Amino acid sequence: MQLGLYDIVNTPGVASDLSHIATPAKVEGYLPPDDGLKKTLTGAHVVVIPAGVPRKPGINAGIVKDLATGIATTAPKAFILVISNPVNSTVPIVAEVFKKHGVYDPKRLFGVTTLDVVRASTFVAEILKDLSLSKDIVVPVVGGHSGVTIVPLLSQSSHPLPASLSAEDHKTLVNRIQFGGDEVVKAKQGGGSATLSMAYAGAEFAAKVIRALKGEKGITAPSFVPLAADPAGGAELTKELEKELEFFSSTVELGAGGVVKIHPLGTITDAEKALVKAAIPELEGNISKGITYVAEAYKKAEEDGPARL
Ligand SMILES: NC(=O)c1ccc[n+]([C@@H]2O[C@H](COP(=O)([O-])OP(=O)(O)OC[C@H]3O[C@@H](n4cnc5c(N)ncnc54)[C@H](O)[C@@H]3O)[C@@H](O)[C@H]2O)c1
Repeated sequence: MQLGLYDIVNTPGVASDLSHIATPAKVEGYLPPDDGLKKTLTGAHVVVIPAGVPRKPGINAGIVKDLATGIATTAPKAFILVISNPVNSTVPIVAEVFKKHGVYDPKRLFGVTTLDVVRASTFVAEILKDLSLSKDIVVPVVGGHSGVTIVPLLSQSSHPLPASLSAEDHKTLVNRIQFGGDEVVKAKQGGGSATLSMAYAGAEFAAKVIRALKGEKGITAPSFVPLAADPAGGAELTKELEKELEFFSSTVELGAGGVVKIHPLGTITDAEKALVKAAIPELEGNISKGITYVAEAYKKAEEDGPARL
């Protein structure tokens, strides 16, 4: 097993550091010279994209497009796990680049929303006044991965909230899950954003994908995926949403070939229905922004000369 790291700086040091962790993976770090991206991606089964600059969506769009181009040409069959924000737009960017290269398989593309799920479990455990429960608490988080598009389905929590929780406290909890990232930025006094909790969440999701890839059955996790990954499940979800969206985050079942099934929302409360409704226009805009970004980038590259693609 191998772990290849690619960054524009520092990968030899990070690779050396990671290589001391007791795992079966041989770790190597590459930089842009000497075809570093190509060397990193060659033979990759799973590619995780965390590259970018926190809270700089415009810059991240270009970075993700370029990395997606590298994956489409070097490891087109790899599972792609997109962490770079804004996930609601960067996942469509990867899809569009793959479509342009004729290698798009919607079953293999995932937006990593696990941090929202992790936050929901932790914050519910806090309300239940027992943090030891947090690892067992499962709350499906659906919609997308920013602000109001993050919709925790607290009514489906494996550990129900106290019946005495006021509507106001319930609203505060939803808001805390939706804007948990801001809490970290504020605590770091603007000097950084969520990194360690993201590393934990990213590792959790990547480990699930790898276990599924190796043949383990019945693994589920929420993820922002193309609904085309499971046409039947996607159609059911579309009916629930009363809106056609190309991407949506819902609980998905993972298998050796990628997405096996996209779960419907199921029974949700009127308040949750209102949250889903509020998420849809924002999601629609975010998705179309990603799609338009790639279309315009390709148009510009065509004008400048196709060799640049
Ligand atoms: N999905 C989530 O839940 C979640 C959570 C936290 C952060 N994020 C996102 O993850 C991304 C990274 O955040 P971070 O806190 O790790 O930032 P960071 O600055 O610590 O790390 C980003 C790394 O990307 C590298 N990079 C920049 N351009 C690159 C390129 N062209 N190719 C390869 N690597 C490149 C940088 O050199 C840097 O090492 C941001 O987009 C952030 O918003 C997502």
